[in-house]
Amino acid sequence: MGKIHAAITGVHGYVPDYVLTNAELETMMDTNDQWITERTGIKERRILKETDKATSFMGAEAVKGLLEKTNTNPDDIDLTICCTVTGDFAFPDTAQLINSQVGINNAFGFDLVAACSGFLFGLTTGATYVESGRYKKVLVVGADKMSSIMDYTDRSTSIIFGDGAGAVLLEPNEEGIGVKDSLLRGDGVGKDFLRQKAGGSLHPATIETVTNKEHFIFQNGKPVFKAAVKGMSGIVRELMTRNDLNAENVAWVVPHQANIRIIESVARMADFPMEKVMVNIQKFGNTTAATLPLCLWDYESKLKKGDNLILTAFGGGFTWGATHVVWAYDGA
Ligand code: UT7
Repeated sequence: MGKIHAAITGVHGYVPDYVLTNAELETMMDTNDQWITERTGIKERRILKETDKATSFMGAEAVKGLLEKTNTNPDDIDLTICCTVTGDFAFPDTAQLINSQVGINNAFGFDLVAACSGFLFGLTTGATYVESGRYKKVLVVGADKMSSIMDYTDRSTSIIFGDGAGAVLLEPNEEGIGVKDSLLRGDGVGKDFLRQKAGGSLHPATIETVTNKEHFIFQNGKPVFKAAVKGMSGIVRELMTRNDLNAENVAWVVPHQANIRIIESVARMADFPMEKVMVNIQKFGNTTAATLPLCLWDYESKLKKGDNLILTAFGGGFTWGATHVVWAYDGA
């Protein structure tokens, strides 16, 4: 028997129908399509408009599609990890809500908070459960309703983010396919540059926190931009070196979709041509924990069994990392 790896045996996504275009943003604040396109690469993003629906709904839709296409019985799922910073409630966690909406009855679940690195951290966490041999079917969901923490008068943040969810199924594989290696990092430094100021136990909600708009996302973009380029390009190179990976034997780089200029800089610094880099930021914007599975979903038909993939992300915390995955099936 070979070593057990966690193979990604399916991926699916969900994005809301409503398309918030740069043209519509122009009517809401002092911005323009040219600035947004040139500075971020984003043309439009999806917004979950229904006020009675939230992150668990999008996660559940992604999971329902995933179970259907992989012919998986919900009762066979052992664990659901929901990576999010916009859970439906502070508690209970969103993973339980997804499980109940999908009809997953024999599993446990938990939420994982690592901002834009959430899915990357969740993938390694889920893979470790599978590698233990005790868990056979693990769901990793990345889902965020970023519009719920967005100030649509703040042009420095609201033009970037969108809503969406993606999910993968992890199953044991003994042929060397699946999640092979990860380098994951975090510090506390990022809290000064990217955070939701109030609503946690340090600053619970008060009339003042609401009036001061402290429940919206706060970001000082420039330092985050620099740290993102440095963090992702450095960790991708480290991962490549220790796994004998290079621009030839890697089929795809799957980067967090925060800004096209960040993605291009990371690709350049790691010596990857953009043809090998997954990009869908133009249509979904930055969906935080959902960007990586939404990329895999979008590019699924192009993927082949045995392809080397490098997933990389950077987000609030700061958190960052890179993961080597050998793809498990032909997409077409
Ligand atoms: O996913 C989690 C991690 N997050 C990220 O990775 C985000 C990293 N940061 C970024 O992507 C970029 O810093 C932003 C897209 C947020 C901002 O782009 P930038 O190139 O850093 O622009 P800036 O903030 O330096 O602003 C340049 C100018 C300023 O005007 P002045 O001071 O030069 O007159 C801004 O006021 O552009 C102005 N500006 C805008 N103009 C039109 C800022 N936002 C806008 C806007 N429309 N939406």
